[in-house]
Formats: sequence, structure tokens, C-alpha cells
Amino acid sequence: MANYTKRDEVAVIELNNPPVNALSFEVRSGLQNALKSAIDDQDVKCIVIHGKGKNFSAGADIKEFGAGTKQQKPWITDACRLADESSKPVVAAIAGTALGGGLEVALFCHYRIGTPSCRVGFPEVQIGILPGAGGTQRLPRLIGVNSSIDMITSGRHVMAEEAMKLGILDKIVTEDIIEEGVKFAKSVVGLDLAHRILKNRKIEAVSPKVFDDEISRVKKKYKGYIAPLFCLKAIQASVQLPYDASMEQELQLFQHLVGSNQAKAQQYAFFAERTSARWQLPTGANSQNASPLPVKTAGVIGAGTMGAGIALCLITSGIPTVLVEQDQKFLEKGIKTMEGDLRGSVALKKMTAEQAKKAMLILKPSVNFEDLHDVDLVIEAVYENLALKKEIFAKLDKICQPQTILCTNTSSLDIDMIAEATKRMDKVVGTHFFAPAYIMKLQENVYGKNTSAETVATVMALGRRIRKVPVLVGTCESFAANRMLHPYVTEALYLVEEGASPYEVDQVLEDFGMPMGMFRVSDLSGLDIGYKVRREAAKRQGIDLTLGTRFVNGERVCLLADVLVEKGRLGIKSGKGWYNYGSPGKKEAIPDPEVLDIIEEHCRKFGIKKQKISSQEILERMQLALINEGFRILEEGIVSKPEDIDVIWIYGFGWPKYMGGPMFYANEMKLKNVYRKICDFHQKYPFSIHWTPSKLLARLSETDLPISNWTSLINSNSKL
Ligand code: CAA
Repeated sequence: MANYTKRDEVAVIELNNPPVNALSFEVRSGLQNALKSAIDDQDVKCIVIHGKGKNFSAGADIKEFGAGTKQQKPWITDACRLADESSKPVVAAIAGTALGGGLEVALFCHYRIGTPSCRVGFPEVQIGILPGAGGTQRLPRLIGVNSSIDMITSGRHVMAEEAMKLGILDKIVTEDIIEEGVKFAKSVVGLDLAHRILKNRKIEAVSPKVFDDEISRVKKKYKGYIAPLFCLKAIQASVQLPYDASMEQELQLFQHLVGSNQAKAQQYAFFAERTSARWQLPTGANSQNASPLPVKTAGVIGAGTMGAGIALCLITSGIPTVLVEQDQKFLEKGIKTMEGDLRGSVALKKMTAEQAKKAMLILKPSVNFEDLHDVDLVIEAVYENLALKKEIFAKLDKICQPQTILCTNTSSLDIDMIAEATKRMDKVVGTHFFAPAYIMKLQENVYGKNTSAETVATVMALGRRIRKVPVLVGTCESFAANRMLHPYVTEALYLVEEGASPYEVDQVLEDFGMPMGMFRVSDLSGLDIGYKVRREAAKRQGIDLTLGTRFVNGERVCLLADVLVEKGRLGIKSGKGWYNYGSPGKKEAIPDPEVLDIIEEHCRKFGIKKQKISSQEILERMQLALINEGFRILEEGIVSKPEDIDVIWIYGFGWPKYMGGPMFYANEMKLKNVYRKICDFHQKYPFSIHWTPSKLLARLSETDLPISNWTSLINSNSKL
């Protein structure tokens, strides 16, 4: 709803729908009625609109967007049209965020003022739609076509200072937004409003070439996403058509997107991220009843690629950090990497040179473990070796304060075994970052059997603070993310053995929307890493792994990647892997006939008959293998809800948001189809354990219930 009060001759309208004042039907109706009252009231000379609480408004209520449904009247434009027609000045007083429809309301006002910490933006592309209440028509009239294209197609938030420069804000005021709004509104009473009404403003002439160029840019930058392209069409309409006609065009484009599968998937992903932040431990402790400990300072052990990246996340979020390496030379190398990454961020305008400098000032590089004595939390990021990690944790346990939380960035080792090296098992937890740690948003937090709720709350809160997307998972071999990767990678290798080329496999995945095919990703990570992990695991199990091994414990294995490693093809770092890169470190991946010969030779050696494999089969086998594993992870309680898995794949491996994540994808395919196909593959490939159908999937597939019901079904029926 919207509250209506008066202060002298000023009408104050408060958008009231906590926590973010989403513009639900009630708020739109309330706003419309309040504007009407203010305009009709002879004593009112001017009007201020503000939001209750911390935010102006986060825009339309996303929950109201059922695919294909029309918005219930009044729509935002109906409610705000009164402001356009008002002879009394209307001022938007913005604190917190004015996003999407929230900014559109503000653009219907004659003036906009904001607090120094406020943010404005059109993030609609991130939920698969476009600003459908005049945003694509009014913003270009205010700040020009080019800046509008940038803001609307990127969805980025614009801070107060930039909003002022662009002309979105007329004034930056103090944080006391209602007082400031009233004062400002009084100061503009009696001024001519004609030029303040955006629909009356002339729009600059822009050649069609600008839009052609933008279409190419957007197609490349937001590959696969349709919303940014629709935004361009709507903005182009603002240039080509009279206001009323282009508003109609915007509405049509908006309605088309609202009903699209991409919008459905992206909106699911939006809420999945928030659902995933609500964690729960098997003990019943959860995000509602556990409080995080304060993290004022942190430490990172290891200045390699991961350690340096994690330290960078901490210092750029304002957390003073001690970075410890055992060797001065490695420490300096790590610092150079960090400085290089910061320079990159400055070049990309993600931060100012001043901010980058400030971040480095709170980094304390050290070769002395004792410097971690007073930090609140330590993240260990040395290489994957259990003995080494245990030694480090035993040492940390002695050096650090008793309340200090000890985190490990292990991607596969047992958290409980690492914790056993300390006398504070409740304060040991996994914080698994993804490479490159400074860029990738996923933070897979892993609890052990003794990790306390307070410790979990602390690392979950830390994740959000350092702009990551934290997900909580339980302990198992490789945890949730990499465990699901295993059948995906394995299937890719089987496909290559059976007749698909690595380049076909990658193409299918990239056409689906993955940022990189599996083989390109392997080259980027380095094929030698998997090689070492496989050999260490085999050694632990007493297995003699050689290039001639075809089965381990009755399970089919394909060691083609190891063949490449033994030929010196380690991936990008050696200039050759599954692809040829010309020279080490170069990024352009060129298909290599030599690799095809190696595969040919491998198949001849083992008598494997090659056949043509269709793109559909490639896609199905890779995706259903990981989806089946996802259901097993859910079944075992490693994650507590399907949204966790989707968030992991979106933010850890680049699953396209417009496909919602693997669990959402399975939901869209219908579980009975997914289950049937997995059973078929299980029959066809009996020696691949990953095709054993998940029991949970089998049970859920009988219910035909949508993904939103799975969690309660799992919780209410333990037999599932
Ligand atoms: N509609 C419905 N619910 C919303 C919402 C919206 N527009 N924005 C946020 N929420 C809900 C969240 O789901 C969350 O709910 P739970 O507590 O139940 O999980 C709650 O509000 C708080 O949100 P966050 O946890 O995200 O809080 P935050 O402080 O971290 O972030 C925010 C605040 C920056 C506003 C962020 O919520 C956000 O980006 N919201 C979406 C903004 C957006 O996409 N707006 C466009 C809407 S579409 C539109 O407006 C179309 C148009 O043209 C009219």
C-alpha cells in the first residue's frame, strides 16, 4: 500500500511494502489513490514520494509475474500518469535503491533527489524482462540514448554520484530523506514544470547503425539472453516513434518477455539465490536462529592463485587481511598477481585507482605464521595434501585466539579429518572458492560433523559481505559442486571414446549456453591437476593406475586425459592440451588434428568401435549424468534443497541463468522423462555407476510435482 500524510502544504506519499517496497497491486493502487488525493487537495502545493524503511522501491513485485499473465490494473504507468498531468511538482526522494519499476516511478516525477548512498538502475534484464513501465522511453529522454543502452542492457546499479553526473538525480542530499524531500519540494513550488515532464522532452536523433552495432555487441556480451536484445528494440522505438506509440511498443515487448521461458528461469534463479542463503543444519540450527561472529580481520595462508584471489576478495571488501606464505619469493609473486588483478578491475571501471590503492593498504604480507595471532578468521589455501593441511591446522590452533574460525579452501578433502588436528573442531569449516577466486561468485561452505551453527553463520555472512554467493553443503567426497562435475566430465570422455570429437562436445555445450565446453575448461584448469588427483586417489585405494587401465572396481574408466598429460599436453599452461594454443599462456583454442590422432590410436588400442553421436545425445548424456548425481546429493542430505544445486551450477560453473540451473532444467523436462532416460542410459551403460538412478528422483518422478514442492516433500517424507 501507500501511506498518505501532509506536512504543511506538502503531500508525503510513502510506498509501504517491506522489506523493499516492491510495487505490488496494493502499492500501485495506493500510489494512484494517494496521487489523486494530493492533486485534488486545494491546500497541497507539492508532492513528495518516498519509500518506507531503507529502500525507495525495488520495482515491480517479481512474484506477480506468472509466465504469460498480464499485470492487474492499475499498472505502474496508470498509477503514475497522474504525476505527468499534475500542475503541482512531484519529487521522488530516493534512499537505498530505486530499481526497475521503482526508478520508473521516479522518472514520472518532475524532480529526483537522492541520499549519497542511494542506487538506481534497471536490473530487469537479470530477471529476463525489460523496464516495462516507460523506463526504456523516459530514460533516453533524460540521459541520452547511449547511456540508457548501457544502463538498461547491463542492468547495473548506478551509485548516487554517477546518477547525479548522468542527470538522473537533480540533487544529492543528506540521509534524512523525508525532511530533504519536503524542503526540496517547497523550493520548487511555482517553477515552470513543462520541461520537467520527460514524455514532452525531445529525443536525440540516432542513426540505425548505432543500434546495429549495439545488437552485435549485446549478442556477444550477453550470449543467449533475449532480454537485452528486446531492450534495444524498445529503446530504438523511443527514437523512431512518437511517445504514445513507443510506449505501446514497449508494453508489447515487455508482455512477450514476461511470458518467456527465459524470464521464468531467470526469476526462478533470482529467488533460488535467496532461498539458498537460508541454510539449515541437520541439528535444526538455521540461518534464523544462529548469529555470526564478527570478522574484523582475516588471514589467508598460501599466496598461490587461489590464496591471492581470496585475499583480494577480502581486502576489496574492506577486511584487513594478513597473507602468509612460507617463502618470500612466492609471497611477492602472489602480491604481483593481486596488483595485476586490481589494475584489471580499474581498467574495467569496476573500481577507481584510489579504491585499488586503499585495498592494498589493508593487506599485510608476511612469511611469519605468528602474524595470524589476532585475526578473527583464517582461510587456508595451500595445495591439496591432507598431511600438509593437518599440520597447518595444528599450528593455527596453537597460534590463533580460541574464538578464531579456521577455514580450509579444500575442494575435496575430509573437513572432519582436518578439524581433528585442532582442539576447536566446532570452529573448523570449509570455504571452497572457485578459480579464479576473485571473479567466480560461488563460495561453497562445507560443514563437518562438529562445525557449530555460529561458525556456519559466520562464513555464510562473510560470503555475502565479500560479494560471493554462499551455499552450504555437507561433507562428502568432493562436496556438492565437484562431485556433480565428476559424471559430467566422465561422460564427456566416454563420448569422445565412442566417436564424438572433443570439439563437437564443447560446441554442443557452448550452444546450450555454457560459457566454455568441458574440454576448454579442462585445458584452462590444467590437465595435470586431475592426473595427480587420480593417481593419489588410486594410491590411497591401493590401485595400480596405468594408461592401460579400463576398469576400476568394476567401473569403466577412460584415461584419455592422462594420455595427453604423458605427452606433455597439460592445457593452456603448456600451449597444448585438448586444443592447440600456439604457445603457453595464449587463450585462443584451436582444434588440433594431433589430438584426434591420439584419440584414434587410443580407440584402436582398446578395440573401441567409433560411431556418429548426435548433438542431442551428447547434451542429454552430459546433463542427465550430472542431474542424476544432483538428486543423489539431495537424497543424501548433502544439500538441503534443489535451489542449492542450481545456485552452485550458475555461480560455480556458469550454467546459463536463462536455463535456471540443472534441477530447474530437470523440472522443465518433467521428472518422469528425466527418470526414464536415466534408466535407459543405465541399461545401456551398466559399467558406469553414475547412471544408477537416484532413488529420490524415482520417487519424485512419480509425483509430477514442480520444483517448488520438492523440499517440503523431501522433508515431510523421510522415506523419499
Ligand atoms: N519483488 C518481489 N520480491 C523482492 C523484490 C521484488 N522486486 N526484490 C527483492 N525482493 C525480496 C527478496 O526475494 C527477499 O525476500 P526473502 O527475504 O523472502 O528472501 C527480500 O525482498 C529482500 O531481498 P534481498 O535479500 O535481495 O535483499 P538485499 O538487501 O540483499 O537486496 C535489492 C535488495 C538490491 C533490492 C535486491 O533485492 C534486488 O536486486 N531486487 C530485485 C530488483 C529488480 O530486479 N527489480 C526489477 C523488478 S521488475 C520491474 O520492475 C519491471 C518493471 O519494469 C516494472
